[in-house]
Amino acid sequence: MMDTPIGIIYGDVRPTLVNCSVVGNIRQGDYVKIKHHEVGWVLGRVDSIEAKTNLSIEKSYEIMNGKEVQVEQSITSQIIIIGYRDERGLIQTPRTPFAAGTPVFSADDDFISNVLNLGVGKKGRAYIGLVYHHEIPYTIDINSMVQKHISVLAKTGGGKSYLTGVIIEELMKNDVTVLIFDPHGEYESMKYPAKYNKEMDRFKVTPRGYPEKIIKISPEKGDVDLRFTLSQINIKELLGLMNLSDPRSYFVPLRKAVDSLRLKSVEYDLDDIIKELKQIDDSSLSQTLERELRYLKSLNIFSKKGLKIDEIIKKGKVSVIEMKGIPPDVQQFIVERLLYVLFEARKKDKIPPTLVVVEEAHNFAPQQGKSLSSKIMRTVASEGRKFGFGLLVVTQRPAKIDKNVLSQCSTQLILKVTNPNDLKAIANSVENITSTSVDEIQRLPIGVALATSPELPIPLFIEVRPRETDDGGKNIRVV
Ligand SMILES: Nc1ncnc2c1ncn2[C@@H]1O[C@H](COP(=O)(O)OP(=O)(O)O)[C@@H](O)[C@H]1O
Ligand SMILES: [Mg+2]
Repeated sequence: MMDTPIGIIYGDVRPTLVNCSVVGNIRQGDYVKIKHHEVGWVLGRVDSIEAKTNLSIEKSYEIMNGKEVQVEQSITSQIIIIGYRDERGLIQTPRTPFAAGTPVFSADDDFISNVLNLGVGKKGRAYIGLVYHHEIPYTIDINSMVQKHISVLAKTGGGKSYLTGVIIEELMKNDVTVLIFDPHGEYESMKYPAKYNKEMDRFKVTPRGYPEKIIKISPEKGDVDLRFTLSQINIKELLGLMNLSDPRSYFVPLRKAVDSLRLKSVEYDLDDIIKELKQIDDSSLSQTLERELRYLKSLNIFSKKGLKIDEIIKKGKVSVIEMKGIPPDVQQFIVERLLYVLFEARKKDKIPPTLVVVEEAHNFAPQQGKSLSSKIMRTVASEGRKFGFGLLVVTQRPAKIDKNVLSQCSTQLILKVTNPNDLKAIANSVENITSTSVDEIQRLPIGVALATSPELPIPLFIEVRPRETDDGGKNIRVV
């Protein structure tokens, strides 16, 4: 492989970007190595590739008319210089240009892995997939995931939940404690193994379920009931969960009823409030209130006994908060309440270090507009790292999620994105990303992602490994 160069450096040469005339077989995205006269072998990547021809538009008409025309073509590529590892193992780029005329060679997997610092074989790392077009495993340091947050971005159907499932499998293998806010009910399926397919061999994956790891917390038919007590919620918040055109006008009657209940007992439920309302006031206001209280009751998440912290979080397990069928404002309430309580518990070391997965995160921390959970999302994003309380933020709208939250995610996994505003948000938030890479994000096939992290000298295209567990997103579409 080493013997034949794939091209020669020509033209204007910079230390970080070179032109290469192409003679061999290379494609956009390929890794190459070039010997620098001061520092030795340096890793680069083909950023763009272009064929220049001498065929004029006039001559092209001649071809149309059946004439034979000689076309001369030369292929040229632009190579981004990634760098080399110095004696201390730090990534460096040469500080003087390469010599024009230097040959460019295809880079072997060992060299790529070494310079990119992929930590192959190191412990405590999550195996996410393979470097695109190579057999090199791509892994993420698990501690840094919990301490420095991570985001998964793609358009709808881009494979976010699938990839998030891959990450969670790795966390389960490493006994990391996880909480998932699951608005679509896609994650319980991780109890069960995936069906075997041939692709799994290439990635060295075998089907496996994790029934002993997953705890489903849901309003009904869960391993644990999702329940909140009304004493944890004030009148204003309770009104906020109702579908009322003028919530303020209901404040006084509702407060009266709740105050009088509180005198009688610390524990009360929605039925008790309805009864109390009937006794103290029988106006049309109370009738509307009653209707809304009955609606909240139908959600089956309020009761006299709420969830205890040790029911929500169990060391080394994955708690799935299933919120399917729950209206968005109530989902925000659930996220707000649980995140708040758990973050406080984590600060006091009452629960182990935990990674919290927030699917559809743009709904829970929107850039514009209000969400009950915005404030706590922002707090956890900015302070969670100090306490080992990490976020895995999943969203199809990078442009619509709170920048303060997204910018705190130091590792980003980006699958196919096509919306121009979302692409702009990504281009602005990812360091070191080239315009060609942003362009490529629009055309990524399913299962290919661009990975960025402080560990990587340059954003990297990777192929997501197959799931070990059953992919719940697929099941939803079948039903
Ligand atoms: N890496 C992958 N390999 C195979 N199938 C995938 C992969 N990623 C996604 N899919 C499939 O593509 C579909 C959409 O994926 P999903 O994760 O639900 O998308 P999103 O959560 O972004 O809307 C699902 O049917 C899923 O099984
Ligand atoms: Mg999804």
